[in-house]
Amino acid sequence: MTETIVAENGPQEQVTAKKYKIEHNKPNCIGCAACAAVAPDFWTMNEDGKSDIVGCKKRDDEWEELDVDEDNFKVNKEAADSCPVNVIHIVNKETGEKII
Ligand code: F3S
Repeated sequence: MTETIVAENGPQEQVTAKKYKIEHNKPNCIGCAACAAVAPDFWTMNEDGKSDIVGCKKRDDEWEELDVDEDNFKVNKEAADSCPVNVIHIVNKETGEKII
């Protein structure tokens, strides 16, 4: 009698945990494009005139989010700092601290 047990957990949970969550309040983005200039690996301009986080998860409320590790925190913090309408937020998932 053999049985294969398949792990139910998604692979994302298995790989190294990513410490930060980037959030983009896309409905309030005015398309200034500073984020894409500062961090082009993570931010790109969409045909709709607003930016997108590259590889993000899109939420029902039209916000976008992406988990990143420590190495990619700084460049995204710079992108968030560059946004004139403060629609980019970063949360420390370990502490719950809202960094920006
Ligand atoms: Fe939008 Fe701010 Fe980037 S307005 S295009 S998120 S810099």
